[in-house]
Amino acid sequence: MALIAIIPGDGIGPEVMGHARRLLEHYRDARKLPLELWQLDLGADRFLRDGTTFPADVAKRIHEEARAVLLGALGDPRVPNLEYARDILFGLRFGLDLYANVRPVKALSDRLVPLKNRSARDVDFVVFRENTEGIYVGVGGQFKKGTADEIAINEDINTRKGVERLIRAGFEHAKRHGKKTVHMADKSNAMKHAHELWYRCFFEVAKEYPGIEAKHVYVDALCLYLVQDPRPFEVVVTNNLFGDIVTDLGAGLQGGLGMAASANVHYADPKRVAMFEPVHGSAPPLVGKNLANPIASFLTVGMMLSHLGYAEEEARIEAACAKAVESGNVTPDAGGAKGTTEVADWVLAELGAR
Ligand code: NAD
Ligand code: IPM
Ligand code: MN
Repeated sequence: MALIAIIPGDGIGPEVMGHARRLLEHYRDARKLPLELWQLDLGADRFLRDGTTFPADVAKRIHEEARAVLLGALGDPRVPNLEYARDILFGLRFGLDLYANVRPVKALSDRLVPLKNRSARDVDFVVFRENTEGIYVGVGGQFKKGTADEIAINEDINTRKGVERLIRAGFEHAKRHGKKTVHMADKSNAMKHAHELWYRCFFEVAKEYPGIEAKHVYVDALCLYLVQDPRPFEVVVTNNLFGDIVTDLGAGLQGGLGMAASANVHYADPKRVAMFEPVHGSAPPLVGKNLANPIASFLTVGMMLSHLGYAEEEARIEAACAKAVESGNVTPDAGGAKGTTEVADWVLAELGAR
């Protein structure tokens, strides 16, 4: 039995996760997949109610018993410092050592591609974002806060082990999926210490993969190339912060954040508990309006099922979502006029889940 922890979270998180859960219930009840769903009440509401962020006993059970975590989104304007959200999100990413944040940028339909003279087949690459280090680790501090002399520091932490394992994951992925190139995006021209490590490590690891071309690109230029012509990109490896930014740009190429799914995995050891989440956040302006696109969450469930060994289900989910887009059964962000519930019902019906 695979224990799946579900954290709907904040804002539109619970709206889209409710439908993702219906899909999982279908796989459990009608398709008899051995899934046990464990819903967790964590997020802003819980934090405001009793101060709980990410309890040690929950972390322990996830670590020891769960196969996967499905997360909606975290972030609530009532809690501006977002400490509770970082506790949960980074508690999962760092705490479970999920060093590869795998973010496919794949357009499901020509209708979703915003670039002139480009079609869906031109937008198909995957970003491997380092997920346990970098500027996200919270090393640093503030000094003389609130005075004219105040100092604020966030250190960018890059370890040989951390950089190397992420780069290797990108090459492994390329090898397993028959891809011919891996790009590494950094700012080694400006960040001479940390990104010299990335640069050197990238070409060292590349030697182990002679059939795959290793290409270096500065991250600013990568942003340019991606909007000009994303076709040359197959696998992009990069650090935590750049990966975050580049994948929102990538989401733009695939029809918006409502279409972008992600997996957080310990790539070298897929048996370890992994975490799956749409790339988008809690989208406060959309909350309660039946406007949130549920497709990113469905695709995320697909990635999770594939990780659990049901790759054919991921393909079915992706096909159903593509059909929803093609037939106009989508929310306004994806060019349709349907509501969250209508889109979710349509996709679930297409998958035989209602
Ligand atoms: P956001 O992803 O919530 O929204 C960015 C834009 O995308 C908005 O225009 C929003 O309307 C749109 N959008 C996002 N998801 C959508 C969906 N499913 N359907 C249709 N449109 C969608 O990013 P933001 O506004 O920068 O951040 C809002 C909050 O979410 C912040 O607190 C932020 O920290 C948090 N956040 C959390 C996560 C996460 O939990 N993994 C990810 C990103 C942002
Ligand atoms: C994401 C988000 C998070 C990140 C935020 C909420 C900390 O933007 O998952 O893309 O930067 O990793
Ligand atoms: Mn982001």
